[in-house]
Amino acid sequence: MAPVPDRLDGAPAVLRRQAEEFLRHGVAAVSPGLRPLAGLDLTAATRLAPLPYDDAGFSARVLRLQLDQSTDQSSRRLSVIARHVDWVAGRLPVGSLRRIFHPLCGPGLFALALRAQGVERYLGVDVGPAVIAFARRVAGQPPAVDFEEGDAQRYRPGRESFSTCLLTYEALNAFPPRRARSLLALVAATMQPGGWLAMDVRRAGDAGPVSGRRCSYHAGGSVFAAGPHLLLDEPTVLGRGAVSGHRFLVVRSEPAVPVTMFHSLVWYYPPATLERLLDCAGFDLEAIEQPFVLDSDVPEAAAPVFVLARRRS
Ligand SMILES: C[S@@+](CC[C@H](N)C(=O)[O-])C[C@H]1O[C@@H](n2cnc3c(N)ncnc32)[C@H](O)[C@@H]1O
Repeated sequence: MAPVPDRLDGAPAVLRRQAEEFLRHGVAAVSPGLRPLAGLDLTAATRLAPLPYDDAGFSARVLRLQLDQSTDQSSRRLSVIARHVDWVAGRLPVGSLRRIFHPLCGPGLFALALRAQGVERYLGVDVGPAVIAFARRVAGQPPAVDFEEGDAQRYRPGRESFSTCLLTYEALNAFPPRRARSLLALVAATMQPGGWLAMDVRRAGDAGPVSGRRCSYHAGGSVFAAGPHLLLDEPTVLGRGAVSGHRFLVVRSEPAVPVTMFHSLVWYYPPATLERLLDCAGFDLEAIEQPFVLDSDVPEAAAPVFVLARRRS
């Protein structure tokens, strides 16, 4: 017997039935022909579409989550960001935070937290239109503080060079190895020789068992869709623990509305792989530390570590 769905308050009967079928039989019960995510090899996993952060509606819903101070989903709380920035400032040589490049910057919360650190120039890049609009409104004005809307992977380094690059909230883990290497190479190209890369990275997944399928009803919408819908979550681990992920299905009560699907994958980077990736991009790994646990709900071994690397001269 499948577990009884426990977050379906207010769901219409038709969606409750779909939820029960999904819990018993998996994704094919709601989307015939769809294979379980668990069967995917890593090459196929690299081809899955990323979350649509560049979509205006999705970005607006992500922004709401990023600003919610009751959760660390999508952006960490201001108090955690302040602690993170203090740690970076304390570990880097004086003056290193003068010129900062911050791909996947989110809604400007790091730029705000960096104000007290003597930053002369900060450039954040984020693909989310609502996220960037908010950052521009609250976190500062060009030329000192600037936010560019676009895919960080396509950022073209110009003539300016930065003294430190930040990759926060496990940004590197959002990319499979080849793209992670390209992102690091791009970062290196924006930096002055001897400049610093400071990032938090997940080395490994939670060693515990993969939790099962979950479903929830969202009368007022969720980050994945506006309006009432059933959200089905199929978690999985791929490549013997190299990647963990979720497939989310949005199901409406109107049968004519097709099911929509999202994938969210985390590519883990153990220290040896990380050192290799950094080396290929022209960085020397200087430190991997865990001065405090960023995510209190994640076991210590799976929690992100703080990495400092130096651009070779
Ligand atoms: C998990 S949030 C983290 C935000 C921020 N780094 C922080 O620590 O608060 C991921 C952010 O990256 C942005 N993003 C995702 N993929 C991106 C890409 N390829 N290029 C630029 N931004 C991206 C999203 O819009 C979102 O704001």
